[in-house]
Amino acid sequence: MERTLAIVKPDAVERGHSGEILKRIEAQGLKISALKKIHLTRAQAERFYDVHKERPFYQSLCEYMTSGPVVIAVLSGEQAITRWRTLMGATDPAKAAPGTIRKDLGVDVQSNAVHGSDAPETAAREIAFFFSTTELLT
Ligand code: RTP
Ligand code: MG
Repeated sequence: MERTLAIVKPDAVERGHSGEILKRIEAQGLKISALKKIHLTRAQAERFYDVHKERPFYQSLCEYMTSGPVVIAVLSGEQAITRWRTLMGATDPAKAAPGTIRKDLGVDVQSNAVHGSDAPETAAREIAFFFSTTELLT
């Protein structure tokens, strides 16, 4: 059993895709172990994306991630990290495989509908960033 963090980003929440995305997650057999909707503060976004602070898109990414509410979920299951990233598709929706969330619901390389942790260590950090252990159900 593995856990990962999923975020429905502001563009997808605004366009009413939260339900569709959660439906695809459950249809894939991943369990939703925790769920909340929040509006990130600038400070939270900057800390969450700390790893990208030297990248040219960092300020723009933080701006975008605070532009509206997000839906944040902890997903669990066998190989949850890889399965969720496969469901998401490539970062750039234009390059994402057919049938993936980013291909179907993403707008561009920044407004790409969803986030997913990329490794066990980042998943642990990202889950702890938003949820306490008592909020994680099976
Ligand atoms: P994520 O972290 O959101 O799951 O996405 P990812 O691993 O596929 O992509 P990553 O390289 O970690 O980038 C994080 C987010 O930054 C935005 N981005 N913008 N303007 C650009 O060239 C650019 N590149 C990345 C996207 O929102 C990306 O998901
Ligand atoms: Mg990433």
